[in-house]
Amino acid sequence: MRLPCHRRKVTDSWPLQLLDWYHAHARVLPWRNPPGAALPTDADWPYRVWLSEIMLQQTTVEAATPYFHAFTARWPDVAALAAADDADVMQAWAGLGYYARARNLLACARTVVDRHGGHFPAHETALRDLPGVGDYTAAAVAAFGFGRDAVVIDGNVERVVSRLFAISTPLPAARVAIRAALAPLVPQGQAGDFAQAMMDLARRVCTARAPRCLVCPLIGSCAANKAGPPDAFPVKAAKKARPTRHGTAWWIEADGHVLTIVRPAKGLLGGMRALPSCDWRGAGTPPIPGDWQNFGVVRHGFTHFELELAVQALLLDQRPDLGPDLALPGAQWLALDTVETAGMPTLFAKAATLGLAAAQERGKMAA
Ligand code: ADE
Repeated sequence: MRLPCHRRKVTDSWPLQLLDWYHAHARVLPWRNPPGAALPTDADWPYRVWLSEIMLQQTTVEAATPYFHAFTARWPDVAALAAADDADVMQAWAGLGYYARARNLLACARTVVDRHGGHFPAHETALRDLPGVGDYTAAAVAAFGFGRDAVVIDGNVERVVSRLFAISTPLPAARVAIRAALAPLVPQGQAGDFAQAMMDLARRVCTARAPRCLVCPLIGSCAANKAGPPDAFPVKAAKKARPTRHGTAWWIEADGHVLTIVRPAKGLLGGMRALPSCDWRGAGTPPIPGDWQNFGVVRHGFTHFELELAVQALLLDQRPDLGPDLALPGAQWLALDTVETAGMPTLFAKAATLGLAAAQERGKMAA
């Protein structure tokens, strides 16, 4: 039974209030359909949505936008991306971090071509079967790419829902309650707009720190605003400290060039051009004997550990013979003035900065 307007619980109406707010305040994004508009019918629309979602798992809208334009200009549809050279895609991805995503990006594009004839499937279940596509991305592509009534929940949506309902269970256990609270409220036929409205609200109003409750269109429906303080939600479980690992990278310089390798395809930073280094489980043994010098230490955070990478340098007059016994796959000497633009991942770019600074001091490079 529908209650008369004045007796309806205010919480019933917040999804529609949010959609009203979104119609007035939606951000314009290159992968987003404007609020209320019919979905674009171009065949590459779901590809654009999927690509943006993979990038946005990695970084912010602002940082992802130039990468999105570069990728779609170079690889305008999923078949073009599927046919790309792995190394080109890895290089175009450099700077976005976490190369496993770029490898999955390619694997996914190739699976869409091989298994689905170059068309993304519209069902969440079939989407979830694609490499690198989890529950969130499957729901996002179904809703934003195909207009399906999916329940799209990312970290930002979790924050908004946990506040609206003052969910006191800590994350990640709270995810069950968050989904149960949100799923029945998704306005049918407008799931894509609704989810993107939640994301914009999370980004502009219901921010992680210092939320702007006084301008929030949902203030009257927000349990955390009443219970206060709203930024006490979502409740977080105590964090485990990330372990620190140690390793060494080797800067071998001769004749204005430095020796680089290609990392093994499997594992962290797989397939990327890099300095030779040990396996990051201790100092390791240099690949060739010599008068090694310590150039310093760089630090880098990975998802599950911090890495302290010592940089040791060997400065030679002539390039040594890298006989077949040395485990240096893809060995290539890079001219020092091309190192910064060689697309090395951030960790090795940081390590190379130490080598380049020293070379500059010795006058081996133009200032
Ligand atoms: N984050 C992930 N997908 C998004 C989208 N479509 N709009 C805004 N933020 C997002």
